[in-house]
Parts: sequence; C-alpha cells; structure tokens
Amino acid sequence: MHTVAVLSLKGGVGKTTVALGIASAALRRGARALVADLDPQGNATATLDPPMTEATLTDVLETPRRAVIEQALAPSGWSDELDVLVSSEDLEQLNEPAPDNRRMNNLARALDELRAKPRDRPYELAILDCPPSLGRLTRSALLAADSALLVTEPTMYAVSGAERALEAIEAIRTEHNPRLRAAGVLVNRMRTRSYEHQYRIQELRETFGRLVMPTAIPDRLAIQQAQGACTPIHEWKSPGAQEIALTFNMVLAKILRSNRAGRHRLDGTEQAAPPAPTEVETTSQFPALRELAEREIG
Ligand SMILES: Nc1ncnc2c1ncn2[C@@H]1O[C@H](COP(=O)(O)OP(=O)(O)OP(=O)(O)O)[C@@H](O)[C@H]1O
Ligand SMILES: [Mg+2]
Repeated sequence: MHTVAVLSLKGGVGKTTVALGIASAALRRGARALVADLDPQGNATATLDPPMTEATLTDVLETPRRAVIEQALAPSGWSDELDVLVSSEDLEQLNEPAPDNRRMNNLARALDELRAKPRDRPYELAILDCPPSLGRLTRSALLAADSALLVTEPTMYAVSGAERALEAIEAIRTEHNPRLRAAGVLVNRMRTRSYEHQYRIQELRETFGRLVMPTAIPDRLAIQQAQGACTPIHEWKSPGAQEIALTFNMVLAKILRSNRAGRHRLDGTEQAAPPAPTEVETTSQFPALRELAEREIG
C-alpha cells in the first residue's frame, strides 16, 4: 500500500479536488483505494458519499484499534473498491498545534493495522486529504505517508507557501518518518491563457525544478459539476472532464514513480532512495498500480 498525503498550508487551493481526482484515477485503473478525510470540514467525505458510520476518524485518532477503525470505515458511493475513513466536525478538537508524538502516530498505527490485516482485498493506495494548517492532523498524515503531494494555485504566494510546506515535510522526514518523500508540487486551477499564471509556474519551476509536476490541473467547471454530483471525474462526460481525468492519471503515475525513483530534494534534483528502514512495500506488489507507473511514466 502506498500512502500519499495531499496538503497545502493554504485553504481552498484544491487539496480535496486533487485527493478525489487521484482516487478516481486509481479506481479507473482497478486499484483498490482508501481515502482518509482528515479535514473537519468533511468535503471529501461529502463527495464520496458513504453510508453513515458508527465512528469517525476522530475516534480512530483517539483509539487506533481494529474495532474502531472498522466502525469508521465505509465503502464510498463511487464504488465498493474505494473506501473512506470518514471525517467529522469534532476532528477540529484534535488539531492542536503542538501535539505529542504518541498521539501524532495514531493514524500511522491505524493504517499499519489495515496493511497488516486487510479487511478484504488489500488497498493499493491510501490517500490522506489534509486540512489547511500544519497542526496535529496534517502532521499525523505526514507521519503516516510514503509521499507528500503539495497543491498550489499559480499565484504570487505560491513559492513561499510551497517552501514552508516543503520545510515541514523535511522536518517530519528527518525527525519522525524517514520513508517520507516529496511526490511533487502540483499546480491547480491553471488558466492556460493567463500570462500571470504562466509567469507564476515559471517562478515555481525556477525555485523547485523537477519537483514541479509537468502537468497542471486546468481550471474547469467540470470539476465542480462532478463534485456536486458526487461522481468521479473519470465518469463525468464532458471534454473538460476527460482532459482533467488524463491529467490525474499522470499525477497518480508520478506519485508512484516518486515511490520508486528516490527522494526529491528541496532544490528539485533527485538523490537515490535511502535504504529501507524496515520492510517497505513497493508498487511491484500491486499489479494495477505497477502497470500504470511503468506504462505512463516509462
Ligand atoms: N481545477 C479546478 N477547476 C475548477 N474548480 C476547482 C478546481 N479545483 C478546485 N476547484 C473548486 O474550488 C473549491 C475549493 O477546492 P477544494 O475544496 O478542492 O480545495 P481545498 O484545498 O481542499 O480546500 P480546503 O482548504 O477548504 O480543504 C471547490 O469548490 C472546488 O470544486
Ligand atoms: Mg479540502
């Protein structure tokens, strides 16, 4: 199981949209996936439309035991192959700014439990949708993740925002989670005809080099329509949706490649992956995702 945290320290830039787009791409590939909705706003949970559960991620983060995890998990309305660890408003109470390490590790424990004893067919991918802050919830996600995907809009604060987030990733990697890699910086809501947007993307590339994903997500009404209809973008029938679906296929492939190719450095160059600290899974154990990583990225 590859675990990717989708984050940005700024609100409303498209974290949930990207988390759902990646989930949609995984489903299209036939990969069983899990979305953990760490945002008290619960936007991912609302769009994935699972049935009511007896517990939520709040309970799991307090008590990461099997029985509680089972109660907080539900199949999404999209497909039985996509499950949700559901959010609730009271997650906000757990979002303390300086949490202790033991509590911060509870999400990783819960995911380890699902990895060790899958409920059904094992998940190939776990996607962690983070809230827009660097409190306990986002830190818990970074402790549990193999890779972190930064989402940004092409605005004048994009570089400084991405820098802060990359520093946070680096700090968690050195102090707590040596497995963690930056999967990349993904630009969302790109308007191709906007000179300003092109300029900002250029600025990001000059600062972060290859860390900036080669394809940006365009600004398209289809995204909002598909979300409003609780439908995966790959199933939304419009030319705009198809273009975005293809972009998410590439984003998924790039995330998986970051798992295989080694750790990205903050300056955008790559270095060889450090030796695995414990037994680390790779996509090679998961046929649907391995094929995608090899075919689309080469
Ligand atoms: N590429 C896009 N094209 C059009 N609309 C978009 C795009 N990306 C996001 N949106 C819309 O922008 C709004 C905010 O997006 P989203 O909820 O994904 O951001 P977020 O970073 O998760 O927000 P928050 O910080 O509140 O969790 C949503 O209404 C979403 O539908
Ligand atoms: Mg969100």
